[in-house]
Amino acid sequence: MVAGVSDALAPVITVDGPSGVGKGTLCQALATRLGWPLLDSGALYRLTALAALRQGLSLKDESGLVAVAAQLDAAFVSGPDGTIRILLNGLDTGPELRAETCAAAASQVAIWPAVRAALLQRQRNFRRFPGLIADGRDMGTVVFPDAQLKLFLTASGEERAQRRYNQLREKGMDVNLKNLVEEINVRDTRDATRTVAPLEPAADARVVDTTLLSMVDVFNWAFAFVVELFPGAVNPSQ
Ligand code: DC
Repeated sequence: MVAGVSDALAPVITVDGPSGVGKGTLCQALATRLGWPLLDSGALYRLTALAALRQGLSLKDESGLVAVAAQLDAAFVSGPDGTIRILLNGLDTGPELRAETCAAAASQVAIWPAVRAALLQRQRNFRRFPGLIADGRDMGTVVFPDAQLKLFLTASGEERAQRRYNQLREKGMDVNLKNLVEEINVRDTRDATRTVAPLEPAADARVVDTTLLSMVDVFNWAFAFVVELFPGAVNPSQ
């Protein structure tokens, strides 16, 4: 094999931004269109929080949380329709993992530098050919700083709360829009002001305000960069 080619790392597209901005939808659409695997890094923080709460650990117990993160028995199982079931200790986490209470706990777990360090290699292990779509808060800044394409989505707080509200209602969950606006605000402030890997665009990220954009607009914005940077990855017949 030619040196350098066999050793080359798979390409990565990172998608970062605050909660409810539409990262998950964009990442899913890109993964489907390109046939690339997807890393839902938020799910790893949610799973760590869920496992810790089930063990009765305090979310302030950094060393206890590190042990949970390091031993996390997590699995992502793709169904034939493209949906992904997330398992903890072999059991489907279902709506519990998606609830805003779990997200808030994940955000608290995520402030601890040693917890983030314990999850770092696990996230990098998702990188494989033909390429990876990585969804999170620090994908472009910390986990994959060498990613070829870094996208960062923003939207107004009201719009993001409305999007998250619609998403949770579609999953049949009972949510209150006013509470959600406050919860999202608290979570984003915590995520953006923590000392390690705060939510922020990488210096070389392409940033878009999606407040007035449809999901199709956002996909088209992102896909134009994909076509430019990874022409070989795009099947023109699709
Ligand atoms: O993407 P999400 O809503 O599932 O993330 C839940 C929380 O996990 C988020 O509020 C902060 C944390 N998180 C993080 O700190 N870094 C990531 N790369 C992804 C999520």
